[in-house]
Amino acid sequence: MTARTVGDVAALRDLPLEYPVFVETGALAALGDVVHAFAPAHRIGIIADATVAQAHGDAIRASFGGMRVDLLTVAPGEQEKTRERWAQLTDALFALEFGRDSTIVAIGGGVVCDLAGFVAATFMRGVPIVQVPTTLLAMVDASVGGKTAVDPPAGKNLVGAFHNPKAVLIDPLMLRTLPASVLRAGLAEMIKHGVIADAAYLEAILHALPEIALRGADSEALPSLVANSVRIKAAVVAEDTREDGLRQILNFGHTIAHAIERLVDYQVSHGEAVAVGMVVEGRIAESIGLAKPGLALAIADSVRRAGLPTSIDGLSLRPELRSRVSPLAVVRATRGDKKARGGLVRYALPRQVGEMEAAEGAWSVPVLDEVVERALA
Ligand code: GLY
Repeated sequence: MTARTVGDVAALRDLPLEYPVFVETGALAALGDVVHAFAPAHRIGIIADATVAQAHGDAIRASFGGMRVDLLTVAPGEQEKTRERWAQLTDALFALEFGRDSTIVAIGGGVVCDLAGFVAATFMRGVPIVQVPTTLLAMVDASVGGKTAVDPPAGKNLVGAFHNPKAVLIDPLMLRTLPASVLRAGLAEMIKHGVIADAAYLEAILHALPEIALRGADSEALPSLVANSVRIKAAVVAEDTREDGLRQILNFGHTIAHAIERLVDYQVSHGEAVAVGMVVEGRIAESIGLAKPGLALAIADSVRRAGLPTSIDGLSLRPELRSRVSPLAVVRATRGDKKARGGLVRYALPRQVGEMEAAEGAWSVPVLDEVVERALA
């Protein structure tokens, strides 16, 4: 593969972000030039998912021409998103004599985006990062918006920092090497974007689902849907970078999802957990009178059509983990959520498809545990 230049690759136009987001089939060949243009540095450290490095390592190196790059790999899986792995990666950079004039390039799914992002946010008090998401979920969510984190035992993403990338490079071709289940996980976040912000976008996703199921990563609809999701996310994070208010709507479905993930030690797909979380939280919105009856069913229908589970029973879980996710256990596990205030867990909830409850600028509402337990049952 020959290297391409930044000028050859399309960036999304008119994004309200300080950094460009490139979305184009084959864009990986321009990675070296993107780094050179937006995050030039003396040393380049690539932190990549080990499977991705195996599949795309040659293409990644080729994009940098003859320039030296150091490749550090991370085994796949949420269990890698720990303080220990953050410390190891940081120490590896020190061992390689990286200094302040370094750029980190994250290449992988959500775990690598978050973990490498936190390494970059903290190394020498912060060095630039370029995000190269390789899963659908990371393309439409984790790579954009500057959230970085690791998972301490107390819960998911509870230690982290905001650290915007210098550029995001999305190459839909990289989805080709992934199993269908990983593609479906990304659809959950895209459905979320439709529910929280744009009913017509949700319709467009539903319309495209049969073609996506048939053609997978080669779907013709996928690149423009990814672009649409990035636009929705960009609009939200541009208005509220540090999640003081509006950005909480991106958490729709996630309060329940994070609780489930933690209870099963992250041995569940994030996308599946979010799919179930959206249905449950839709039910909560109905039961406290924010949404009209029918919303949760509409969300469940979308989720089902994407091949995702609508209830805890439908999660792809090893049998020995099932007993851990009773409604009561899930309610208890929500108490560590980042949105909890004064002992009450708060939820970002939809009023209808395409519109979230503003709660007078708070964008989340406190919900009693009994209500949540009933919605889970
Ligand atoms: N993934 C949710 C957010 O970026 O705020």
